[in-house]
Amino acid sequence: MNHEQNLRLTQVGPGTPGGQLQRRFWQPIALVEEFDPMLAPDMGSREHPRLIKAVRALGKDFVLVKNHDGTWALMDRDCPHRGANLAFARYESIYSQNNSTLRSIYAGKVPVLLEKSEERSVHTAIRCPFHGWAFQTSGKLAGQCIDTPAEPEGSTMCQHIKQRNYPVQEKAGVVWAWFGDAEPEPMPDLDCFAAPASHSFAFKGLWHANWLQCFEVGMDPAHPSFLHRFLQDADLQETGSNAGGKQFRSAAAGDVAGERWPMTRVMRELHRPKLAAQAVQSDTLQGIRITALRALSEQTTHVRMTQAIFPHIFVIPLSETLTITQWHLPVDDGHTYWFSVFTSFDAPIDQAAMRAQRLPYTTLPHYIPKAGAHNAWGFSPEEQATRTFLGMGEEDINVHDQWAVESMGGLQDRTREHLATSDKIIVLYRRWLQRAQDAAAAGQAPPPLPAALSLKEPPSTVDGFAPTASWEDWWKERVAEKRRKASWIKQ
Ligand code: FES
Ligand SMILES: [Fe+2]
Repeated sequence: MNHEQNLRLTQVGPGTPGGQLQRRFWQPIALVEEFDPMLAPDMGSREHPRLIKAVRALGKDFVLVKNHDGTWALMDRDCPHRGANLAFARYESIYSQNNSTLRSIYAGKVPVLLEKSEERSVHTAIRCPFHGWAFQTSGKLAGQCIDTPAEPEGSTMCQHIKQRNYPVQEKAGVVWAWFGDAEPEPMPDLDCFAAPASHSFAFKGLWHANWLQCFEVGMDPAHPSFLHRFLQDADLQETGSNAGGKQFRSAAAGDVAGERWPMTRVMRELHRPKLAAQAVQSDTLQGIRITALRALSEQTTHVRMTQAIFPHIFVIPLSETLTITQWHLPVDDGHTYWFSVFTSFDAPIDQAAMRAQRLPYTTLPHYIPKAGAHNAWGFSPEEQATRTFLGMGEEDINVHDQWAVESMGGLQDRTREHLATSDKIIVLYRRWLQRAQDAAAAGQAPPPLPAALSLKEPPSTVDGFAPTASWEDWWKERVAEKRRKASWIKQ
């Protein structure tokens, strides 16, 4: 591909074909926990919680507000008066009668303008600290300017000023936004949205790289045999079946001649997977089901099934009963937030433990990994010589993927790459992306993939040993069994 094609494929800003395509999908913009002052260092205190936050997505700046009634508002961040940053706005209450918005009052001075009455309803507003203009953030009038206190008495100017307000919803511990001009589509039918809060955990992290190279790591089933290779296996007695939420440290499902194999051994010893791609679709999503087959013998084959869902979601197994659904929010052309939702098909998830496991590797409040280019991602020559293939730590394998993605540079120079057989999924995806961007630039929906299979249930994952001759029946049975056992799936 040439330089222009590479740029076109990866850009996300307003007006670019890629940006138009991204604006046809719901995007994750924040974790709900980022608004909990007990967890978030920049969000005030229990007495004075901060309920306004700066957010950047698709090359633009926004301000996210949690309203009194628990709903969310997302608006452009530059004040429509003279452009000051509304992430520093004051948070206010507006009392209105019969839902007609009345002039609001300065927070902290006079708490109530109206006599409290049965008819009043409370709305939320934010007020720019530069000249005091206020904007309603809840209800149907969200975005409307409701006060311009430096203007002459009786001015009606504010009636003509409206800040752009975007549809937002909260699901699976994440706040989602719709940036497009078209009516919002339904959310994709994924298991992580069906599971109750008790069986779900969400986290995020910032990578200094373009979204496409982050996503392309997820649809590359060959890399775990190398990038995440452990030169020794952990004791399965100690790690148990879910390995405390650590990837590739648990046992693969099933056995080899009566012996259970850790995933690390599978990945290390069977490093030449045969890849298959099947296009899939439902009313709410399109994607590619990726199967990586690692033949152990004529009788036994290791099957790992993952899903790449457009535009930047992958669904992968963490263990037999835990799935990770990961989005790759394009912050701008050179930065990406991955948002992971962990979903348990079995017991509830210990969220505090999952969080505690990840915090040592992250700097809050922006969820920036402590490892990065500045400290060579923690590279240890000693470790590379003796314990891991990469040498960047055994506990947090996220840093392995982070290195792969960031070490290419903010935007990988794809004019210099040599795609191989093991990259066939990436090739397939890029072709779809090009066609979908063309369609989006013409104001049309993404085209379907050829020969797409209609899904009856959300896209699933498996990882385990199957009989070589009947692996296709085997994985369907594994998925059916997992779904039968999940308390939150209606049978
Ligand atoms: S810039 Fe915001 S009120 Fe003037
Ligand atoms: Fe990886």
